Amino acid sequence: MIVTIDGPAGSGKSTAARGLSQRLGFEFLDTGAMYRCVAWSVLDQNVDPTDEEAVEVISQQIKISFSDAQVLVDGRNVSEAIRTPEVTEVASLIAQYPVVRTELVRLQRQAAEGIDIVSEGRDQGTVVFPEAFCKFFLIADPQERARRRQAELRTQGKNMSVAEILQQIDQRDQRDEQRTVAPLVPADDAVEFNTSTLTIEEVLDQLEQIVRSRMSSK
Ligand code: DC
Repeated sequence: MIVTIDGPAGSGKSTAARGLSQRLGFEFLDTGAMYRCVAWSVLDQNVDPTDEEAVEVISQQIKISFSDAQVLVDGRNVSEAIRTPEVTEVASLIAQYPVVRTELVRLQRQAAEGIDIVSEGRDQGTVVFPEAFCKFFLIADPQERARRRQAELRTQGKNMSVAEILQQIDQRDQRDEQRTVAPLVPADDAVEFNTSTLTIEEVLDQLEQIVRSRMSSK
């Protein structure tokens, strides 16, 4: 059984997807982390992120694995390294490359084979798992998204103004929404939520209720 949660950065989808997977007893797949791993590897190998062919080769060779709450690239724990602003920027760029997407979509489908999973990203309900049992699309107001991102950066000891973050978010949204392959759009059959004024518990209660009611009517 597959549940997808898509939406832009700062919409609260990662926290929601992780929490929902725990409540349901499902596995959790953070597909943004996979794009971040490719970006991290590009930077680690001093490859030019605009060199599409070189980035493609990396995406075809990379070994990404998840162990407990850790993200590993070729056995190296990169959980924190993939969350830096530099990796965030490069991830947004390389996520536009069709071959990179094909490779990661293949790995995502492989990861979901034969298990119950909550999969989170931008294209999970539209491209990767169009037959998913339940699809959600989370959004939040730009100010609130920037505030959440600021709080996240503070935990990494980084200070950025909300205005600066808003500008970056806007740039990444445009890239996500306007790319030709797998742009960020809600699936026709996705349930949409604006999480701006909701607590995480409220979001989880609503998502869980929808999934469970669909399960019981199956
Ligand atoms: O959700 P995130 O911020 O960790 O995602 C990192 C980048 O990867 C972001 O720029 C969008 C991209 N991404 C994507 O294109 N498709 C996905 N399924 C997940 C993330």
